[in-house]
Amino acid sequence: MSELRFDGKVAVVTGSGHGLGRAHALLLAERGAAVVVNDLGGALDGSGASAGPAAEVVELITKNGGKAVANADNVATPEGAEAIVQAAVDTFGRLDVVVNNAGILRDKSLGKMSVEEFDSVLAVHVRGSFLVSRAAFPHMKEQAYGRIVNTSSPAGLFGNFGQANYSTAKMGLVGLTKTLGIEGARANIKANAIAPIAWTRMTEALLPAEFEAKFTVDAISPLVAFLAHESCETSGEVFSVGGGRVARVFVAEGPGWRTDDLTMESIRDNWDTIMTEQPYLQPTTLGQQASASMQAML
Ligand code: NAI
Repeated sequence: MSELRFDGKVAVVTGSGHGLGRAHALLLAERGAAVVVNDLGGALDGSGASAGPAAEVVELITKNGGKAVANADNVATPEGAEAIVQAAVDTFGRLDVVVNNAGILRDKSLGKMSVEEFDSVLAVHVRGSFLVSRAAFPHMKEQAYGRIVNTSSPAGLFGNFGQANYSTAKMGLVGLTKTLGIEGARANIKANAIAPIAWTRMTEALLPAEFEAKFTVDAISPLVAFLAHESCETSGEVFSVGGGRVARVFVAEGPGWRTDDLTMESIRDNWDTIMTEQPYLQPTTLGQQASASMQAML
């Protein structure tokens, strides 16, 4: 079986000074990619900053014979995102892969969550992924090639107590991924998202102790690297990944129920039919969803 390589390719991995991003950067570099190791180097809640974590990962990659450059800019500001992409172009001459991985946590139950706690989490995850992708897009379009991997979460796809900010952000990344997939299609830019579960500083206080050995960061990166590879033709999809298991997560719509006389009472009386899942439709665009509603009128 031939090995999948990234020789000649350049990747940006945001938030790669620790945890999952670090593992993604190490794998991409081991497979031949030149990597921009971006990390603001702050605490789990996003406070503080340090150039140390990104520099340490670059040192490790270089020691192993790989190519990497450190960057400590903030993904959540337009200038920071531009500088991250510029670091790839200035240092390695191009940009093929963006892994939007940087993230923070500010968990609180809804009633206790401040506007600042809500906005700051959306700023890093959603605005950061938007800004870095936006900065990378012109370079990818110009070369008619690009791969973007966003980082969603089961907390966003399925909800989680105490994470109104984080789950909103992580589901937002599903929408961003789908639209990037659509907008990138003509230029051979593929965008996909992962919803991982792994033992890192972000989850060590939440996961049972036995997860540490089984849910490793190294059990996530192979999927990220595959989605970042030129041989991956898939776009606009979301994959759940953890402990060696990979599964497609998809948004589906039940067959539904339609009438010319929709009232509160007719909805009540047909609730079981409305809630039916099978046979489900799986629109991949807004247009496909709208045409399902049109079809129901015929
Ligand atoms: P981590 O805390 O080890 O890594 C996140 C990295 O992002 C840190 O190194 C941090 O310094 C960096 N970062 C934070 N804000 C930044 C900013 N504004 N600009 C640049 N870098 C910034 O946590 P982990 O677990 O490795 O998380 C990585 C990604 O995976 C996050 O997006 C997280 O939400 C997501 N995730 C992780 C899960 C897990 O089980 N560990 C589960 C679901 C999602």
